[in-house]
Amino acid sequence: MANQPMLSIRDLEVKAAKKNLTLVDGVSLDIDAGQRVALVGESGSGKSLTCMSIISLLAKGLAVTGGEIRWNGTNIAQASSSRLRQLRGREISMIYQEPLTSLNPILSIGNQLGEAARHVRATKGDVLAMLDRVGFHQPERVLRQRPHELSGGMRQRIMIAMALLGKPRLLLADEPTTALDVTVQDQVLKLIYDITVETGTALLLVSHDLNVVRRIADDVAVMYTGRIAESGTTDQVLSNPQHPYTAALMRSAPSLESKPERLLAIAGRVPTPSEWTDGCRFAARCQFATEQCASKPPVVDVDGQQAACWHTDRVREWRQAS
Ligand SMILES: Nc1ncnc2c1ncn2[C@@H]1O[C@H](COP(=O)(O)OP(=O)(O)O)[C@@H](O)[C@H]1O
Ligand SMILES: [Mg+2]
Repeated sequence: MANQPMLSIRDLEVKAAKKNLTLVDGVSLDIDAGQRVALVGESGSGKSLTCMSIISLLAKGLAVTGGEIRWNGTNIAQASSSRLRQLRGREISMIYQEPLTSLNPILSIGNQLGEAARHVRATKGDVLAMLDRVGFHQPERVLRQRPHELSGGMRQRIMIAMALLGKPRLLLADEPTTALDVTVQDQVLKLIYDITVETGTALLLVSHDLNVVRRIADDVAVMYTGRIAESGTTDQVLSNPQHPYTAALMRSAPSLESKPERLLAIAGRVPTPSEWTDGCRFAARCQFATEQCASKPPVVDVDGQQAACWHTDRVREWRQAS
């Protein structure tokens, strides 16, 4: 197929088997080679589950029950374990919020990088060059250290090095700086940005910080309660949100369009999966909601910017008036 995206997720559904709960409900997302896409939304919206689905790392009891995850044209949602071993690290890698949980506390960094290098057939020279690139200019020293001897920022740099050793085409980064000191968050994000640009690696960045999204991502998808509420280029979505949820998120983000003293938290709470209906799940918190919102909202497309809302025209009028 000509011009197919490198990664194309269509109508992804993830369920928790035991309670038959739907946790990811019809997510579609495309990522082209070298493209940087952000996934944003409040906690519990299904961002991590979407990432985990891509490399089949869902926890026990969870499963992809619908839709497709096409990687260069082939559905990898039900890939064999041998195909997954080949895929992970060499085609798609992932880094997590808390790097400690993915490092073995009793093994040296050298040991763990060595194992990762064997898996992707990288040489010792590749490891040393990668360590230098992520900021360890005396790599021999860090190779002897254990995870607890490193700061959170250093551990995340190790994880970035490990994830990129096999030259994957896509890096999944699930809130990679949330657990770090504010002072190093920027440095680590800049490293992720620079190194993916340099190597042409595509990035799916999960973040709840719209300022970060604006700096890093070409495209953004806003998730709410297991669904994509709005997606488009970062510029489209952040300069002209069509979905009331996106507009509310922007009003609650520091310094994006309001001064900190004018921040408005989104009223109400995110409904839990057992409370989800087929209708708009943001309706209870939405200033534009009407009876119509009890039915599943249509996806309205304006120049490729898509919003799942009955009232995008009213959102637009309201933004123009305010
Ligand atoms: N192993 C699990 N079993 C049951 N529910 C889960 C499990 N993991 C996550 N969930 C639920 O799925 C929803 C989405 O989770 P998640 O993808 O982690 O959200 P996010 O990353 O956007 O904060 C949440 O409501 C969460 O409680
Ligand atoms: Mg998460």
